Amino acid sequence: MTDVRPTLDGSDVLHTLFRSDQGGHEQVVLCQDRESGLKAVIALHSTALGPALGGTRFYPYASEDDAVQDALNLSRGMSYKNALAGLDHGGGKAVIIGDPAPVAEGGAKSEQLLLAYGRFVASLGGRYVTACDVGTYVQDMDVVARANRWTTGRSPENGGAGDSSVLTAFGVFQGMRASAQAAWGEPTLRGRTVGIAGVGKVGHHLVRHLVEDGASVVVTDVRPESVERVLADHREGVRAVADTDALIRTNLDVYAPCALGGALNEETVPVLTAKIVCGAANNQLAHPGVEKDLADRSILYAPDYVVNAGGVIQVADELHGFDFDRAKAKATRIYDTTLAIFDRAKSEGIPPAEAADRLAEQRIAEARAAAL
Ligand SMILES: NC(=O)c1ccc[n+]([C@@H]2O[C@H](COP(=O)([O-])OP(=O)(O)OC[C@H]3O[C@@H](n4cnc5c(N)ncnc54)[C@H](O)[C@@H]3O)[C@@H](O)[C@H]2O)c1
Repeated sequence: MTDVRPTLDGSDVLHTLFRSDQGGHEQVVLCQDRESGLKAVIALHSTALGPALGGTRFYPYASEDDAVQDALNLSRGMSYKNALAGLDHGGGKAVIIGDPAPVAEGGAKSEQLLLAYGRFVASLGGRYVTACDVGTYVQDMDVVARANRWTTGRSPENGGAGDSSVLTAFGVFQGMRASAQAAWGEPTLRGRTVGIAGVGKVGHHLVRHLVEDGASVVVTDVRPESVERVLADHREGVRAVADTDALIRTNLDVYAPCALGGALNEETVPVLTAKIVCGAANNQLAHPGVEKDLADRSILYAPDYVVNAGGVIQVADELHGFDFDRAKAKATRIYDTTLAIFDRAKSEGIPPAEAADRLAEQRIAEARAAAL
C-alpha cells in the first residue's frame, strides 16, 4: 500500500488547521511559481465579516513549516483585529518565503516574483485583500496591484493611501486617552509622563499627539538618529534615556511599546512604574499569562491589536477610494472600543486582553449566525 502521509513536513500544521481550537481556518493556499522562485502561503482564517484582509510578510523562514505556521497565526490575529476595528473584513495573511532584499542585492524580491504573487491573490477572486507587512513596502504593493484589484497599501500616485503610520499613531493616542479615562477619570494625558520605546514611523507621530495634549514624553530608540529627529522636532516636553531598560524604570504614568513584540515579559512587568501600557507594537505580551501578571500589579493594559488598528483601518478604506477624513473618523472609534473592553474586563473580572478576544469572537459569531 502506498504511503499516504502528508508531503508537508507538518503534521503540527495540519493539526492546527483542521483540529485545534486555535485553528479553524477556512482556507490555506500554498503558492509556487518556479520561474520567479516564489513560494508563498496565503491563509484565510475567516471571511465571516467580509473578505479576509491582512498584509503580506516577506521573511526568510527557517523552514516551510514555520512559514505555514506563521501564516496561520497571523491570519487568525487579523480576524480579531479587523472585527474590533469595526471593519467588514475577515482575517487573512500571506507570507512569502525568502530574503526580502531585491535580487540585485542578493535577496529574493523581484518584479517577476511580486507579479506572480499578485496573480495568486487574483486567483482568490476577492476573498483575500492584501497589504504591506514586515519586508514589503508601498512600492511592492504597487507592483502586486498590477495583477489584481485586491491590493491595498499602494502609493498615493497609484490610488493608495501611502504610509499607514499616521493613522496608527492617531489610533494609539485614542486608545491612550481611553486608558487615561478608565484609570484617572479624564480622557487626557495632560500633566502625565509617557515613555515611548521606539520612535520610528509610528512612535514619532505619537510623540506629537502627546506633546500637543500637554504630556511630558520620555523616548528611547536603538537608532540614535531616530531620537535626534524627535528631540529636534520638539524643543520642549521631550527628553531621551539610554535604552528601554532605563525607560521602564523611569517614573512613568504610561508606557508605550512602539518597537518590537514581546516587550511585556517576566523581566519587564515586575519593574514597570507605569500604571498604563498602551503602544503600537504588535504582540506585546511575550506569552499567554503575562496579561494576568499585569492585572495582578494593577497595570491597565490596552490590548495592542485594538489600539494599533489605525493602519488596517486606513488600508481597508483604500478599497473605496481613499478618504483620509473618513478613515480618521473610523480610527477615532478606537477610543470607544478600548473603553468597552475595559468595561467588559471589569464586569467579567478578566484581563482586558481576554475581554478583547471575547468581544471579537462575539462579533464574528454574530456575523456567522446572521449568514445562516
Ligand atoms: N506602521 C504601522 O502602521 C503599524 C501598524 C500596526 C502595528 N505596527 C507596529 O508598531 C511597531 C512600530 O512600527 P513602525 O512602523 O513605527 O516601525 P519602525 O521600524 O519605523 O520603528 C520601530 C523603531 O523601533 C526602534 N527599535 C527597534 N528595536 C528597539 C529596541 N530594542 N529598543 C528601542 N527601540 C527599538 C527602531 O530603531 C525603530 O526606530 C511595530 O511593532 C509594528 O509592527 C505598526
